[in-house]
Amino acid sequence: MAKVLMVFGSTTGNTESIAHLIEKELASKGHTVNVLNAANADPNGLAQGYDLVLMGCSAWGEDEVEMQDDFATFFEGFDKMGLNGAKVAAFASGDREYPHFCGAADVICDRAQELGATIVTDSLKLEGDGSGDAQDIESYVNELIKAL
Ligand SMILES: Cc1cc2nc3c(=O)[nH]c(=O)nc-3n(C[C@H](O)[C@H](O)[C@H](O)COP(=O)(O)O)c2cc1C
Repeated sequence: MAKVLMVFGSTTGNTESIAHLIEKELASKGHTVNVLNAANADPNGLAQGYDLVLMGCSAWGEDEVEMQDDFATFFEGFDKMGLNGAKVAAFASGDREYPHFCGAADVICDRAQELGATIVTDSLKLEGDGSGDAQDIESYVNELIKAL
């Protein structure tokens, strides 16, 4: 069974809620998930020893993508995570009213790829806290598991 690292940044709790729904789904399929709030996570070498790295972050810009505050700080040390060769996927809560819906997920995937990671599936982009999106979450997790 896989060892999964999950790091999320969330201001009002929506991305955090999605993180826990993904965790529950992965755990129900026998995988071990270490869930960290970016506010308390040290990026140094963090990705080492995991089969899959998931990162969730909301966006807070108007015209440009601004990462959620805690994740923005974590992101400063992104190149020290040890993502070269890692399997990575992203998820986010956002609002379709904004020009870059869940744009932080795209920024994370682009940078992770630059650092040598493989993006294993499309980012999960939801509005709200994921409580009405069980099917999308299950499909996302199924795609993740296929990539293990
Ligand atoms: C000032 C402001 C800017 C925002 N910018 C974006 C954005 O660029 N893209 C997006 O999808 N959502 C945007 N949102 C919506 C939030 O990302 C959304 O409410 C999200 O669910 C918050 O997730 P969190 O509770 O995990 O932080 C913005 C909200 C505010 C108030």
